[in-house]
Amino acid sequence: MRDVVIHVCVTCRREGEDSALPRPGERLFEGVASLAPTGNAVLPVACLGNCRRSCSVAMAAPLGWTYVFGDLTAESAGDVVLAARLLADAPDGLMPWRGRPEAFKRGLVARIPPPPPAKDAAE
Ligand code: FES
Repeated sequence: MRDVVIHVCVTCRREGEDSALPRPGERLFEGVASLAPTGNAVLPVACLGNCRRSCSVAMAAPLGWTYVFGDLTAESAGDVVLAARLLADAPDGLMPWRGRPEAFKRGLVARIPPPPPAKDAAE
């Protein structure tokens, strides 16, 4: 099992919503932070560049893929934690399709491969 880092955009708000605070992204962050198991870091971020499909989160695991999801809501915290668990348990670092919450099947924005291993400085 890998530790997963979950970045939640706290500046996200849905188009057409009023500007009342806290924003939906901030409420989503608070929900994820309260539900995430120990070992997962939950970090606030100001804008993931996915504003048209907010609310947005990104998640990454060491030596695994990084995922960006959108079209979430302030009430999506449970689904975020479930998706993070799938990534944490994935032996190949790829979040499996099976078992993903529906919002995480429809809301995939991008998946980014892990960086290549660092070259040995002695080469
Ligand atoms: S404000 Fe959340 S992705 Fe831009």
